[in-house]
Amino acid sequence: MLVKEALVKATRLIKDISDIPNKEARILLASYLKKDQIWIITHDDEEIKEEGYFELIKRRVDNEPIEYITNSASFYGESFYVDSNVLIPRPETEILVDLVVSTCKGIKTPIIVEIGTGSGIISIMLALLLPKAIIKAVDISQEALHVAKLNAKKHRVSDRIEFILSDLLNSCDEKNFDVLVSNPPYIANNEPLHVGLSYEPSLALYGGKEGGEILEKIYNLAKARKVSFLACEIGYDQKEYISTIASPLKPKFYKDLANHDRGFIINFK
Ligand SMILES: C[S@@+](CC[C@H](N)C(=O)[O-])C[C@H]1O[C@@H](n2cnc3c(N)ncnc32)[C@H](O)[C@@H]1O
Repeated sequence: MLVKEALVKATRLIKDISDIPNKEARILLASYLKKDQIWIITHDDEEIKEEGYFELIKRRVDNEPIEYITNSASFYGESFYVDSNVLIPRPETEILVDLVVSTCKGIKTPIIVEIGTGSGIISIMLALLLPKAIIKAVDISQEALHVAKLNAKKHRVSDRIEFILSDLLNSCDEKNFDVLVSNPPYIANNEPLHVGLSYEPSLALYGGKEGGEILEKIYNLAKARKVSFLACEIGYDQKEYISTIASPLKPKFYKDLANHDRGFIINFK
């Protein structure tokens, strides 16, 4: 089959599950052929063996996120390896990274700990943007840590981040971090999920019966370990919950681009 014929057929197959079927068809073909987008555009009369390509298209038709099919996701303008052991990076998490970077501006050697590093995107971006920072990144999932370490190597910051297998900070007994940052699981255990989310690891999604339980534990840990700042992402409906837990400290909340409450920072100093 010719490249252009494969693209027309694939676009038709995925049009019901994607808003950008033509673009996704091209991304999946480039990934399958291990070529770039320019090659796809300039070789539309090339003959290809299409069976493997349509296996990928079938996975997409079954609603598997394109990032898991191509093993690649973009975050903060950088490319990261992802697989089904880690949450796919979300663009709103870039705001959390920016918040930590601006918080660390006045600190000579910021000491940062991240709980729930997943693919490593937050800690890796912090290592790239804050060259003097000392960073520890924990996750309860060995498989996720494997992905995070691959990404740290890809971005040449392996020597800047210590990855630790740990339930919260149980295996990391230091105190006095400048910043504790986390994008923890925060969905309530019984909340029905959109079909695309069902491919993501439950460990990365569910935060307890109410959804905010892990956030509350992280807040208590931040207090107990005497961190200076706690910066977290939250669910759009968790502002009240956090305000109650953290009163009278007055967390500063921020919104995402869709104008939903999306996170907060608390200054404990
Ligand atoms: C929402 S994902 C965030 C991943 C990544 N930091 C990001 O922003 O894309 C939450 C992560 O927390 C990890 N996690 C869940 N419970 C944990 C716990 N008790 N201790 C440490 N990590 C935990 C999950 O394995 C998952 O990787």
